[in-house]
Amino acid sequence: MSTKYRIKPYPISAVESGMEIGRMVLTHDDKVILSEGTILSASMIEGLKFWDISTVFIKELLSSEIEIDFSIPETVLQKKFYADYDHTVSLLKDSFLKLRFFKEVPLTTMRELVDNAIEPLINSTGVINHMHMVRRQDDYTFHHSVNVAVICGVLGKWLGYAGQKLQDLVLAGLLHDVGKTQIPLEILNKPGKLTHEEMEIMRLHTIRGYQLVRDTPNAPRGVIYGVLQHHERFDGSGYPFTVSGDKIHKYAKIIAVADIYDAMTSDRVYHRKVSPFAVVEMIVGEMFNKLDPAISTVFLNNVRDYFVGNIVELSDGRHAEVIYLGQFMASRPIVVTQDQEYIDLERNKSLSIVSVVRA
Ligand SMILES: [Fe+2]
Repeated sequence: MSTKYRIKPYPISAVESGMEIGRMVLTHDDKVILSEGTILSASMIEGLKFWDISTVFIKELLSSEIEIDFSIPETVLQKKFYADYDHTVSLLKDSFLKLRFFKEVPLTTMRELVDNAIEPLINSTGVINHMHMVRRQDDYTFHHSVNVAVICGVLGKWLGYAGQKLQDLVLAGLLHDVGKTQIPLEILNKPGKLTHEEMEIMRLHTIRGYQLVRDTPNAPRGVIYGVLQHHERFDGSGYPFTVSGDKIHKYAKIIAVADIYDAMTSDRVYHRKVSPFAVVEMIVGEMFNKLDPAISTVFLNNVRDYFVGNIVELSDGRHAEVIYLGQFMASRPIVVTQDQEYIDLERNKSLSIVSVVRA
């Protein structure tokens, strides 16, 4: 029987003495605490906690008969998330369909949706990973609105928002594309590329949404501006009014990051689904011109923690597990393939991640 190993991330709470360190442990400022091959003792584990280390890579022995399970079925947690998510999308769909005709934002219903349905999604463990795996077929706008609301909530929490401020931000995310209910369906659902004129009409969803929310009694200012400005860009290259920098409301800047992240990781009719790793690369590329650098930094620093343990498909067709992400380089992590090859994608540029198989 040949000897095989795997290196698996463990939360510090699950680490026990006698386990072997599979990957060098570094402090947050990159000083080595423990090197590869160290057998952990109880005092070392205490030391790791002292250094505030949350995850440790452990080397585990596998016999040749035990294969890494790359097809773990959905957990109860995931199943619950998907069911709650589907229910939320259908509630939003009902409200938005009515809105197309009555032109009134049902603010109380929307607030209830935020409090009762979306907040539990935001607070579920592994939310960012579940978001990649939710099945979204039709009804893009409704799925996208719920997704952006959830991502706004998660990002808002990372930015230190809480209470009413966080609820308003989530509401702004949920309503950001509400103006699309006023765009003719033949343009909204057109398969294929929009003409220049159609694109101009589509862009009006920002102003139409603003008008709808502005005319709603008790709508918070941040929600009104989040809806109006979510396509404005930090460098003034956005729409509808090409405002820039501080003239863009904070909520609109947060929605912009959530919007880009979700739009690119979604399946769309004429938009190939992009892996979250490629989206991270894109956000890194835009964070110093189009997006708010401070918000993007917080997003990138936190979202990368969710990627460890993901099973991905590489450009050569092999499946691999993400085991380590370097600072900011979340798009090119270190992976271990099914046939136990360790690949540092940062060094091996001929390979890339095509998609996430399991998050
Ligand atoms: Fe939009």
